[in-house]
Amino acid sequence: MKIQYLGHASLAITTGGKTVLVDPFISANELASSIDVDSLAADYILITHAHQDHILDVERIAKRTGATLVSNFEIIEHFTKKGCKGHPMNHGGSWQFDFGTLNYVNAVHSSSFPDGSYGGQPGGFVLTTNEGCVYISGDTALTYDMKLLPLFHAIDLAILPIGDNFTMGIDAAVMAAQFVKCTRVLGVHYDTFGYIKIDHEQAKNAFAKQGIDLTLLDIGQDLSL
Ligand code: NI
Ligand code: MN
Repeated sequence: MKIQYLGHASLAITTGGKTVLVDPFISANELASSIDVDSLAADYILITHAHQDHILDVERIAKRTGATLVSNFEIIEHFTKKGCKGHPMNHGGSWQFDFGTLNYVNAVHSSSFPDGSYGGQPGGFVLTTNEGCVYISGDTALTYDMKLLPLFHAIDLAILPIGDNFTMGIDAAVMAAQFVKCTRVLGVHYDTFGYIKIDHEQAKNAFAKQGIDLTLLDIGQDLSL
């Protein structure tokens, strides 16, 4: 499995011969100007919640690629009305896709669309494949519900927001990694806006102190599982 960082909380995961994008917010992210939205491959697009910094490029990419969207019921309703293909899920549910199994799990956050309309409840995904198991928490606070995940999944990599203010900050994300029993973390949702700028060395040290490896990728860079 290859996971490419596209800036903010946007990812391109390649697994089982498919490309799975997560929360594409690229065209308005000045830090991600090296990424060409209109040449990204996508078989699926996972959407954690309806905020603009997670859905901005969904329709643009989905209409060009014919990708299937996967999210909560309300977000899929919203995009299928616009002519996109979608697979609705809700919290606690899992489904076996051709690239792996997804479980839609709890997140503590909000989820309105940019116009204020209801975007369902926010969530995260556990992606289980032959090549490893990844927890994508989405925007969330630290929550005790995270302790349920390792009862069902042996998580190899936790993708967690670390930028604070709108989500967990560094200290809470360290504890989230402990809650899900994972010693490898990919940080997301930092540096994009003034409110979420972080000190990278301080973040890595905070995780290292607890025996957890924090990876912070440059935009466009990838890691392998
Ligand atoms: Ni959000
Ligand atoms: Mn966000």
